[in-house]
Parts: sequence; C-alpha cells; structure tokens
Amino acid sequence: MTAAAPAPVDHTRLLEQLADVLGPAGVLTAADDIDPFCTDWRNLYHGRALAVLRPADTDALSAAVRLCVAHGVPMVPQGGNTSMVGGATPDDSGREIVICMSRMNHIRGIDPHEMTMEVEAGVPLKVAQDAARDAGMMLPLSISSEGSAQMGGVLATNAGGNNTVRYGNARELVLGLEAVLPDGEVFHGLRRLRKDNTGYALRQLFVGSEGTLGFITRAIIQLQPAPKEVEVALCAVGDAQGALALFSAFRALDPALIQAFEYMSGTGMALVNELIPGAALPLEQPAPAYVLVELATPRPDANLREFMEGVLADAMENGIVTDAVMAESEGQRTNLWKLREEHAEAQKRAGASVKNDVSVPVSRVPELIARATRACEELIPGIRPAPFGHLGDGNIHFNLVQPTDMSGDAFLARAHDIMDTVADIVRDLDGSFSAEHGVGQLKPYMMAEWRGGAELATMRRIKAALDPRNLMNPGKIFPPATSAPASA
Ligand code: MLT
Ligand code: ZN
Repeated sequence: MTAAAPAPVDHTRLLEQLADVLGPAGVLTAADDIDPFCTDWRNLYHGRALAVLRPADTDALSAAVRLCVAHGVPMVPQGGNTSMVGGATPDDSGREIVICMSRMNHIRGIDPHEMTMEVEAGVPLKVAQDAARDAGMMLPLSISSEGSAQMGGVLATNAGGNNTVRYGNARELVLGLEAVLPDGEVFHGLRRLRKDNTGYALRQLFVGSEGTLGFITRAIIQLQPAPKEVEVALCAVGDAQGALALFSAFRALDPALIQAFEYMSGTGMALVNELIPGAALPLEQPAPAYVLVELATPRPDANLREFMEGVLADAMENGIVTDAVMAESEGQRTNLWKLREEHAEAQKRAGASVKNDVSVPVSRVPELIARATRACEELIPGIRPAPFGHLGDGNIHFNLVQPTDMSGDAFLARAHDIMDTVADIVRDLDGSFSAEHGVGQLKPYMMAEWRGGAELATMRRIKAALDPRNLMNPGKIFPPATSAPASA
C-alpha cells in the first residue's frame, strides 16, 4: 500500500463544495464544534481535523466522498466515538476530515416474519435494541457502550459483547449491507436472504474492516425471538477455575440457555462498589472473583428459575460457588448487570489503566488469568490487575489499573511493557491480542507479528484494491512498512 501523496488541497474550495452537497448543517469547521470528534473515549488520542461532515443520507455521503477523493483528502468514519483503540480518531496533521454518521439514524423497517431489522448506520445500538423489543423480538448484541455506540460502528468493528456466547459477534447477525466505497460508489448489498451462494460474501469484508474499506451506511440485521423467561444470578467463586467449572456445569445441561456468562475479579468489583454511585454488592462478603450468568428462553413454560436454582445448589454443594444471589425482578436484574457493565467506567475513574482485550480457548481462561496476574505483578509492584469479561466465549479484558503510589503518566509509560507481557502469555495459549475491540491506531504494531506473512499481505492487497490512495481511515489496522510500537 502506498501512503497518500500530500496533495495540495484548496480547503476553501473543498469546504464550499461540501456545503453545497451536505447543506450548512452538514459541515462543521469551528474548533469548538470539531474538538469532541477529535478525541477518543479513553482520552488517549487528540487529533485535529479539517472539518467534520454530517451527511443525512447515502447519496449525500457518496457525493461528499467523491469530493474528498478529488481533493486527495483522507476520511475518518465516526459513529458514537466509543472505540477503545482510537479507531475513529483523526491523526494530528489537520489534513483529515471526520465523517460522522449520526444523522443517518432511521430504522427503515422491521419484518416480523423474517425477524429482520433494516437499520441506518447512525442508529444507536440501544435504540435498535429497544425497537426490536417493542416489536416483540430481540437484537442479540449487547455491549457496555450500547447507549452511545452506533450500528455502523458496531458492524465496522465486528463488535462482540455479552451475548457472543450464544449468538456470535456482529458479523453473524448481518444478512445484508449497503456501503459507500472509498471512491464514492455505492455497494448495494442490502439483501435479506438466508441462502445466497453467489461468489464472495462481500458484505463480510466491511464487517470488521474498521472503516478502512468504506462506510457502512445500512444493514439488514437478523433478530431473535424475545425471551419469555430470563434469570440472572451473581455468584461468588474462589477463582477463574471455579468460574470455568460453573460454566461447564451450565453448558453440560443446556448450552442453548446461556445468554451471557461474565467473569469479574474481586479487585474490579471493589472499584465498581467504591466509584460508581448506586452500585452495591448484594452478597454478604466480598469474594476473590465473581460470575454473572444470564439464562433466557423464548419458551414461556421452561421453568428456568428452577433449572438455575438446581445448578447453583449443586455448585454450592461442590464448593464451586461460595455464595449467590438470583434477581427477583427486572429492577434487580438491572442492578446486577450494573455491577458488570460499570467495570470500564470504574476503572477509568480509578486512574490510568492499560487494557488487554484478549481471547484464548475457553478452557485456558484460568491459566491466562493466573499467569498474567503473576507476570504483571512481578513487572510493576503494586499494579492492580482487574480482569473481567466474557468468559463464556474466552474473551477476557485483562485490564490493569495504575498502582496507587505511581503517577498515571509513569504507569502509561510502561503500557507497552505490560501489553507485551500479557501478549506473550496469550500467544503461548493460542489466543488473540484483540478479541473484540479491534486494532485501531493503538495496535497496528502488533499486526506484523501476529498476522504477518500471507495473512497481512492478503489484507494489504484487498485494501490496495479498494482504496489505492489510502484515503480511508489511514493509520488504522495496518502497520507502516517498518513497524515500531506507537506511543500510547
Ligand atoms: C466491556 O466488555 O465492558 C468492554 O469491552 C470494556 C473494556 O474493555 O474496558
Ligand atoms: Zn467486552
């Protein structure tokens, strides 16, 4: 791939032309308006942008892309700006234009027979979930940032989250897709077919491409029947081995009932209790680790509660679970989930943290947690490992919070040592260095080592075929020819 040649850009002319096709509300240029789009949620990256565009529909976006391409201006797609890896933040050159999808925010239809939803890119995930629920169905994708994250970004990053254990990642939910390609042409793939064996599944190219191959503008999403019975329990366990044993106990009896199976460390839970108003542990004693398990079924007569009580009683008798509480109402379910969902926010409030969004085969999660905890504690005495996440699909957020006696900057200066330490163990366990957050601009330096050879070369060839001038979200996913760690 060749880097975009720094073409001389007539900014004034380009911005006038963009205002012509997008209208005045569609082009932001004032510094105060642009700034929020130039910083990521984690506050790791502070870029600059020539402008922020807000197209209202696919045709307007296509016209704007053609203009940017004609002027050789790089484009950065942005949805809810919730990336954990700086995937939607411009660089600091001031040459890039951010294209925000939030005005394309219509749900175009819900089909109860096909159980599908047609959705535009800027619809927040939570709004899409609520619309599915109002129609008597469920959109089975749930992530901590669902209030802000938008469908286009959710798909472009192939988001995972809490329900992957049962329904797969975003990729598995997409039947059809519309996208604007890097040259402005529209890819019309909005089909709603369960079977369509007509060559390459091109829609899947855009899912997980992190905006490097174009803009996802619309999608057909497969919905599921709404659950009629839901049970949620919070369980205290001795360690991750106990958590895995509990997962296996549920799975052996009925894997199809497990809607979420989440692990939390004692350290992470203590931070949530301390730093998140209204979050209180409903167990008598704090424990070394916790599991939040959600079972659900669309059958109204499944006696789910009895089933869950039976499994938990056995687990307590066997010493796997030391204490447990089952939600008695929807309000209590929400409160139990709050203890899990607020982990990222609590860690943010606790100071600087280093995130390792890793996955290993499920059976190796306990070894990952034990080894990485030991190794990080040896590396930086006083470091606070607070691993949590989606144990049911092998994706653990091996996050580490700064020691209380170290400055945040000094801690972040060691970020790459910490990430490398965890990565060595993950590699040894046949895992992945990025399970669900993607690569963004934080982790391209890891690509050469982890996805090198034919894999990265093939990705580069696809990228060069669709975006020969590297104008789509440059600096994301792909390491430069010589790759040194980015400073983060
Ligand atoms: C989550 O599952 O809550 C996240 O992916 C957040 C994180 O890694 O901090
Ligand atoms: Zn997660």
